[in-house]
Amino acid sequence: MAKMEVKTSLLDNMIGVGDMVLLEPLNEETFINNLKNRFDHNEIYTYIGSVVISVNPYRSLPIYSPEKVEDYRNRNFYELSPHIFALSDEAYRSLRDQDKDQCILITGESGAGKTEASKLVMSYVAAVCGKGAEVNQVKEQLLQSNPVLEAFGNAKTVRNDNSSRFGKYMDIEFDFKGDPLGGVISNYLLEKSRVVKQPRGERNFHVFYQLLSGASEELLHKLKLERDFSRYNYLSLDSAKVNGVDDAANFRTVRNAMQIVGFMDHEAESVLEVVAAVLKLGNIEFKPESRVNGLDESKIKDKNELKEICELTGIDQSVLERAFSFRTVEAKQEKVSTTLNVAQAYYARDALAKNLYSRLFSWLVNRINESIKAQTKVRKKVMGVLDIYGFEIFEDNSFEQFIINYCNEKLQQIFIELTLKEEQEEYIREDIEWTHIDYFNNAIICDLIENNTNGILAMLDEECLRPGTVTDETFLEKLNQICATHQHFESRMSKCARFLNDTSLPHSCFRIQHYAGKVLYQVEGFVDKNNDLLYRDLSQAMWKAGHALIKSLFPEGNPAKINLKRPPTAGSQFKASVATLMKNLQTKNPNYIRCIKPNDKKAAHIFNESLVCHQIRYLGLLENVRVRRAGYAFRQAYEPCLERYKMLCKQTWPHWKGPARSGVEVLFNELEIPVEEYSFGRSKIFIRNPRTLFKLEDLRKQRLEDLATLIQKIYRGWKCRTHFLLMKKSQIVIAAWCRRYAQQKRYQQTKASALLIQSYIRGWKARKILRELKHQKRCKEAVTTIAAYWHGTQVRREYRKFFRANAGKKIYEFTLQRIVQKYFLEMKNKMPSLSPIDKNWPPRPYLFLDSTHKELKRIFHLWRCKKYRDQFTDQKKLIYEEKLEASELFKDKKALYPSSVGQPFQGAYLEINKNPKYKKLKDAIEEKIIIAEVVNKINRANGKSTSRIFLLTNNNLLLADQKSGQIKSEVPLVDVTKVSMSSQNDGFFAVHLKEGSEAASKGDFLFSSDHLIEMATKLYRTTLSQTKQKLNIEISDEFLVQFRQDKVCVKFIQGNQKNGSVPTCKRKNNRLLEVAVP
Ligand SMILES: Nc1ncnc2c1ncn2[C@@H]1O[C@H](COP(=O)(O)OP(=O)(O)OP(=O)(O)O)[C@@H](O)[C@H]1O
Ligand SMILES: [Mg+2]
Repeated sequence: MAKMEVKTSLLDNMIGVGDMVLLEPLNEETFINNLKNRFDHNEIYTYIGSVVISVNPYRSLPIYSPEKVEDYRNRNFYELSPHIFALSDEAYRSLRDQDKDQCILITGESGAGKTEASKLVMSYVAAVCGKGAEVNQVKEQLLQSNPVLEAFGNAKTVRNDNSSRFGKYMDIEFDFKGDPLGGVISNYLLEKSRVVKQPRGERNFHVFYQLLSGASEELLHKLKLERDFSRYNYLSLDSAKVNGVDDAANFRTVRNAMQIVGFMDHEAESVLEVVAAVLKLGNIEFKPESRVNGLDESKIKDKNELKEICELTGIDQSVLERAFSFRTVEAKQEKVSTTLNVAQAYYARDALAKNLYSRLFSWLVNRINESIKAQTKVRKKVMGVLDIYGFEIFEDNSFEQFIINYCNEKLQQIFIELTLKEEQEEYIREDIEWTHIDYFNNAIICDLIENNTNGILAMLDEECLRPGTVTDETFLEKLNQICATHQHFESRMSKCARFLNDTSLPHSCFRIQHYAGKVLYQVEGFVDKNNDLLYRDLSQAMWKAGHALIKSLFPEGNPAKINLKRPPTAGSQFKASVATLMKNLQTKNPNYIRCIKPNDKKAAHIFNESLVCHQIRYLGLLENVRVRRAGYAFRQAYEPCLERYKMLCKQTWPHWKGPARSGVEVLFNELEIPVEEYSFGRSKIFIRNPRTLFKLEDLRKQRLEDLATLIQKIYRGWKCRTHFLLMKKSQIVIAAWCRRYAQQKRYQQTKASALLIQSYIRGWKARKILRELKHQKRCKEAVTTIAAYWHGTQVRREYRKFFRANAGKKIYEFTLQRIVQKYFLEMKNKMPSLSPIDKNWPPRPYLFLDSTHKELKRIFHLWRCKKYRDQFTDQKKLIYEEKLEASELFKDKKALYPSSVGQPFQGAYLEINKNPKYKKLKDAIEEKIIIAEVVNKINRANGKSTSRIFLLTNNNLLLADQKSGQIKSEVPLVDVTKVSMSSQNDGFFAVHLKEGSEAASKGDFLFSSDHLIEMATKLYRTTLSQTKQKLNIEISDEFLVQFRQDKVCVKFIQGNQKNGSVPTCKRKNNRLLEVAVP
């Protein structure tokens, strides 16, 4: 989503003034007050035109967030409150869009925040420039070069816990789109003396402490180091720990950064080995040893450390030992070896340590450059960031301070040149008349230092190269001679008499009036430091090292390349590199960040006015403002100017149709601003005095309030009116709806009434018509009926003679007869068979014949039965009579009965008459034999049976022996009272005899026979016909039989099938005889 552009201005919500150019009145006091006021309100950035002043807050402020980056992105420089991001954005956009190479010059004294500012600029540019995997890697490498260089080049000083001890200039290279391609870093004069000695309260370079705190035990062992700082002479112990700094964690950060930048593992290790070697060098100690020839000689006290160093660096121990004891001087192909005394030996040791470390640092910078250098050959746009040590004034200022301050002089010069140049260029560009500006030009000081013939550096070099004894004093003498007349040079011993009595100027010092203040330099050490001598024996020893990195650091040690010419002095080297830097900067569009340190305590919220005042003076900030204001204090492009102030004039408010410039002209005329107060450039309006601008601002503020009231008024009026109109409209709509509703209701009522009346009238009319029609219809019907009756009478009267009175009855009877006739005829044909058991009978044809049909069926059946009976003979009739009798007696009572139905009753089964065996028996019986059959007589004692011939005659019952035919018993039928049998399927039966009869003396008989039914039937019939008494036949499964005196119970039980189908009889006890019937 496109961010909504809100047009704001630096002038909005200003605390103090955001741009010092607008300060009124302008003097040191108001300047400082304005800075302080802003600082107290957390506004650490203030402009002087396009220069940013940054006051170190010494605490983290929430003004560097990604949101802030977004705020400042693509905004005009004066649109938002002053910020380092605004400057970065301006520089980056001018580089990207206008193809102008940029440089960002960050100056200020130690601890003022230069390094932080440079990092902020880099991170801002990284955040707003292109994205993508490759670009991100480049960015990451550029950003990660910082921790590496800081570890090796920064140290804790009394002024700054993370003080940069080298100057740094970094060119960031971009392609035409503004995507970063790579970079080049240049370093300036590392403060190498720190390696061997640190002032009180300061530390050596961070890397030593980081290595000892953060390295693993394994790594320490490999590097032959111990974790304890106190083991090393080169480490100052009083401030080994820095508050809020975690050296161990930083060590990991640095190693990680090295990896990201592209250091191979073995390279990083080599670097640490060199660091370790430097540290251990400090532990080598010497003791004096006198020789016979009187020359002083030194000897290494404890060779163990030396041995370890040699193991670490791969140097032959004897070579190094010798290098510490002798010095070889070569002159005219002659080698002269002299011994070193203890002091010289220490000097040699320290020189080696310093050289080793500073060369390692330069190697690191080169190595990083190799990694971050742009890979393509396309034309590059460049943004340089210069973070160089600021102007330094210490109590004891030496060669280093001299060099540093020289560099700052040069920077100041280029600042003046470029600022003025830019100002002038702008005036020319805008076609404004150029007015001369008076300012202090420090070129004269630069000349004092760098002049090739009589500059201080040139003379120092001269001294160093001069044969004979050269000391710092001789150098000072020389200065006293040559520079005595220079306005900015002061020395007690100079030819110039004005300082003869100046006690603040010691004899061994000289003073320079720098643009930023006077600085007193101790001349001691100038010559040595400028010489920067490392004995050739040492560099040769180093060249012989097995350690590839160390070897490469000392190319001059190669005997094949022996160069008798002295190496360039430190002073001249620096001068040359500063000259290159200046040349480089001059080709670029400069952007300035002036850092100010608010207090010496590294504390937040403290604003030490005198300290700030001093910095403002030497940074020449007031002058900067004056230069900027010399012509016109304020300038602004016509468009934003018109946009901001157009409400102050009726013609331009709310819209100006014509070009912006004429709008501004009209505006300024209208406001009656004196003509000399402003000037019209090509694209900008130039305002001479800040007062004019503030007057405009005041008017604008007043006008804005009026406008706000006006807008409020109009808005309120509009709101009320729209509300009223809405209410009015609504009221009309509601009234319309109400009326409509009422009318609708009335209409519907009227309509309903009309309909009702209508319907009543219609109904009344219809009923009237209906009555009439009904009357007519009845009349018609009456007429028809009368006519019909009349016609009937007429016809009957006429035809009566042709009818018989009972013709109908006759016809009826005839019809009936015919039907009955037909019924009988049909029945004749459909007659069923003559079998009495045939149940078929044809269906009834007519309902009225129902009873007839049933009667006919009965008659037919009777007739058919009679017919059937008539065919029987008397004998057969008798048989059937007997069978009928049996049926009546036993059907459904005795289970044996059904099996007897099919058997013919033969009676005489034994043919007594014919069988001679029974002749005697036959003779004994005179009567007719009805039954002659063999039965089993059941023995009373045990239930076993014996065969007997059973004979029934008309009057007697006889039992005879089966074999002999002899009569055993004879019972007259009158003595037989009862026959008992079971209901089951067996042939047992008991014959009960009359009590007291002769026959009964032996008791009742119990038989079993195959023809029980026949025998019982015949016995019954015979008894009935002879005695006219019905024989009692008892059918029961349990009955009593009289055996002599006892009554025995015969019980029939359900027997099992084991004994076959024959019932078995068993005497159970003397009262029970059990018959098991299967
Ligand atoms: N913008 C800032 N916001 C918060 N703290 C800051 C800011 N700038 C600087 N500081 C604090 O001040 C300290 C010193 O800053 P820095 O190291 O940048 O100073 P310097 O000017 O580079 O000094 P030197 O010349 O000694 O290198 C930082 O370590 C940090 O604590
Ligand atoms: Mg720094």
